[in-house]
Amino acid sequence: MRPNLLVNLANLKLRNPTILASGLLGYAASSFEKVMEAGAGAVVTKSIGMKPREGFPNPTMVEIECGLLNAMGLPNPGVNEFVREIKIAKRARIPVIVSIYGFTAEEFVKAAELVEKAGADAIELNASCPHVKEVGAQIGQNPHVLAEVVKKVKSAVKTPVFTKLTPDVTDITAIARAAEKSGTDAITAVNTARAMTIDVETGNPILANKIGGLSGPALKPVAVRCVYEIYETVKVPIIGCGGITTWRDAVEFMLAGAAAIQIGTAIMYKGLEVFKEVTDGIRSYLTKKGYRSVKEIVGLSHTN
Ligand code: DHB
Repeated sequence: MRPNLLVNLANLKLRNPTILASGLLGYAASSFEKVMEAGAGAVVTKSIGMKPREGFPNPTMVEIECGLLNAMGLPNPGVNEFVREIKIAKRARIPVIVSIYGFTAEEFVKAAELVEKAGADAIELNASCPHVKEVGAQIGQNPHVLAEVVKKVKSAVKTPVFTKLTPDVTDITAIARAAEKSGTDAITAVNTARAMTIDVETGNPILANKIGGLSGPALKPVAVRCVYEIYETVKVPIIGCGGITTWRDAVEFMLAGAAAIQIGTAIMYKGLEVFKEVTDGIRSYLTKKGYRSVKEIVGLSHTN
């Protein structure tokens, strides 16, 4: 019998546990359709805010050993422009999770209300961008500030709310606890980690912004540790994210406690085929081990 791969994330039904991570394919509804055809269980859009932003000057991205460093500067067309695209993206027939950011709790609330109205199936709060001042990590590193954002958004919308955390904190369990207490429906762990790289010929940092976010295989063991610690602390579902490139990586996150996983940087290495490859690999693993459902392995490393 084929094992059951269905995942229920705060009432969001996914055909399998693989999700396109935020930031990779931007805003075009047509790319989400391709991600669906490639086999993903859901998609997350690149973060959208109330006002359009140009983003940082180039270079905004550089490939390094074991990963990718980027500081895009949250370039986006603004939520009003994006609303039309969400409506088209819904044709993808898999859940569309819309990532939002804000400079204040009120901006998060306004963006959440607008994307809910446009039909977002869930909202992911980007409380963890590593290098844009006053948004992102500056919110996600302070449990009181994060709690205010989550509480206000939760009381404004009915759509499920996922909170994406930064790994750049001393104790991620305190942040996860604050998000859960404030009503988050799930936790995405983790966003990129603050990092930099310097060109030894010129002596200058390579990214125009100097500091950026590290993703890809180098981030994976940090992210697995975060998921493991969060699983021991909260009851809401955890969505694992950080360097997942193979089915083994995906299974590792699930054993640590992730109910679903997001794939981002691996698309650069493997293309959209990575969704099918990871899903098929998870299915074979469950069959080989005699599990009937993917749910059975979530958090198993804690009981062994
Ligand atoms: C950007 C935002 C993020 O949340 C992240 O992890 C990396 C980069 C950005 O737009 O610069």
